[in-house]
Amino acid sequence: MSISKKIKSISNLIQDNSIIADIGTDHGYLIVEILKNNKNVFVYGVDINEKPLHNAKQNLNKFSIKKGYELIISDGFQNIRNKNIDTAVLAGIGQYKILEILHNINDSVSNIIFASSDKSNKIREWISNNSFKIVFEDIVYENGFFYEIVQCIKSNKKMHYNKDEIFFGPILYYNKSNLFISKWNSEILKLKNILSKIPLENQNFKKIKNKILFIERIFTNEIKSTN
Ligand SMILES: C[S@@+](CC[C@H](N)C(=O)[O-])C[C@H]1O[C@@H](n2cnc3c(N)ncnc32)[C@H](O)[C@@H]1O
Repeated sequence: MSISKKIKSISNLIQDNSIIADIGTDHGYLIVEILKNNKNVFVYGVDINEKPLHNAKQNLNKFSIKKGYELIISDGFQNIRNKNIDTAVLAGIGQYKILEILHNINDSVSNIIFASSDKSNKIREWISNNSFKIVFEDIVYENGFFYEIVQCIKSNKKMHYNKDEIFFGPILYYNKSNLFISKWNSEILKLKNILSKIPLENQNFKKIKNKILFIERIFTNEIKSTN
């Protein structure tokens, strides 16, 4: 099995001695990676569908992994509400679906790792509104897609991320890695392509143009931190 960069990057953030819920586990590769690399951990591999759990079981068997995990059919946290989970992973799911799943998150969860299949801005708003603090962000490029990895931990101080930090990521923006620049250059190209196909008087023209200008500010250091 060649492990995906996204799975590798997420598994690097898992600590020994933790109890993890991998929500939307699908193939179960993250469970394999965690159990191979971490000591004294337990993983609940959760999926809303039966078939992915069957695939996960097969993959775990391939690696002769017999313990340290349980596969559970559940819509988000619904069937694992009574488990004392400290770490949750929500990867490969769109951010609006992730927000629905977060409505029901166990209070015991103090560490969350996100790798949304689309954007992360609404997730960062949730983090800001729910007394969590972003402690790590990275971008992974795989199969033509940029994935933002966002890790947050429970905090006793409420973080007030500003509009730019919510949109670009408070850590990603200030690090300005090559992948960050590539991601937003690629987004600008996509938006300019859309713009070239719609008439000037179309109500979306100005909206898209403003979004391009908003993104282009990352190249001119106009963004300021609030925290
Ligand atoms: C694209 S896969 C992502 C697999 C893996 N997490 C990754 O990032 O590579 C998304 C998985 O999430 C599952 N899923 C979608 N909504 C869910 C929900 N509400 N609760 C649990 N699993 C869900 C799907 O059945 C699917 O197996």
